[in-house]
Amino acid sequence: MKNILVTGGLGFIGSHTVVSLHEAGYNPIILDNLSNTRENVLDGLEKLIGRRPVFYKCDINDIIVYEKIVAESGEIAAVIHFAAFKDVGESVEQPLKYYHNNMQGLISLLTAMKQFGIANIVFSSSCTVYGEPDNVPVNETSPIKPAVSPYGATKQMGETVLRDCAWLNTQCLRYFNPIGAHPTGLIGELPLGVPSNLIPYLTQSVAGLRPPLTVHGGNYPTTDGTCIRDYIHVCDLADAHVAALNRLLEGKQHKTFEVFNLGTGEGSTVLQVLTKFEEATGLKPEYKIGPRRPGDVVAVWADPSLAESRLGWKAKRGLPEMLRDAWNWQTKQT
Ligand code: UD1
Repeated sequence: MKNILVTGGLGFIGSHTVVSLHEAGYNPIILDNLSNTRENVLDGLEKLIGRRPVFYKCDINDIIVYEKIVAESGEIAAVIHFAAFKDVGESVEQPLKYYHNNMQGLISLLTAMKQFGIANIVFSSSCTVYGEPDNVPVNETSPIKPAVSPYGATKQMGETVLRDCAWLNTQCLRYFNPIGAHPTGLIGELPLGVPSNLIPYLTQSVAGLRPPLTVHGGNYPTTDGTCIRDYIHVCDLADAHVAALNRLLEGKQHKTFEVFNLGTGEGSTVLQVLTKFEEATGLKPEYKIGPRRPGDVVAVWADPSLAESRLGWKAKRGLPEMLRDAWNWQTKQT
């Protein structure tokens, strides 16, 4: 079994990818500093994959850990790099926190990879690199717009750093809006503190743990006045990482740096999500329309056709399934 180092492997997307890696016959090794997750995610992973994955509780900047991992586990075939902060608003308030973790962290990781001869990486990028797009859907050649937040800047700069490292083979994956949870409800999205993203806030609010949802802006130029996003099931996203990893390890890349959009190709407004949530769960979310949130783009959704043709990957799960699984996960939290 090939060893795959998964930084941020106890986070939302990381933990689901650990399951997909195991199912595909890889041996995931998790590195996570628990800055936005909990160690008990390992319990859910253990139930799902039948053994406790190898886990290093450590920061990606603590470079001593890489030597330890290689000494204890042997050759690392590739790294999947999730460990990063992702709260757009927080990044505006605390830019250095974002530049330190997302940029310095990436550079520490790449330095260690070079030292230990690890030349393959899958990188978590984001549709945020497209900013407010001129045309939708966006494809991989759509213009990269000036970043509206330090978070967005770190994703753009991360892509540049990886593109410049010619000794590396990179699969750069631009996620749209990952939501949902594993259908068993054993792992899911549990940010620490008040969630800033739509779905964890929505499910916590419907569960009575938070006040009613505030919809950020109701007068955008869309069908119902609310923003449009391309929501994608986290299990579909996890499978895409395995497809990208296979392409790397089978040497099928056309060039050292390749980029793929990961979305469903369908946009939904915030109010459409709320309606679908009610249809999927029978529960009516309470909400009020509030002011616009600074930095929100009006509408963005993916053209995912390149990922389909090159990675052989396509999102399979629709919005009702995403919302049902997100709610199922929420009901299992105490
Ligand atoms: C943003 C980033 C995305 C990043 C993600 C990680 C952009 C364009 N997108 O996604 O790249 O991966 O953060 O955190 O920078 N909403 C409400 N009420 C709420 C929360 C959200 O109405 O309480 C609305 C937002 O205005 C938006 C939609 O729900 O229209 C989705 O918001 P969210 O889940 O926060 O994700 P993005 O901001 O789209």
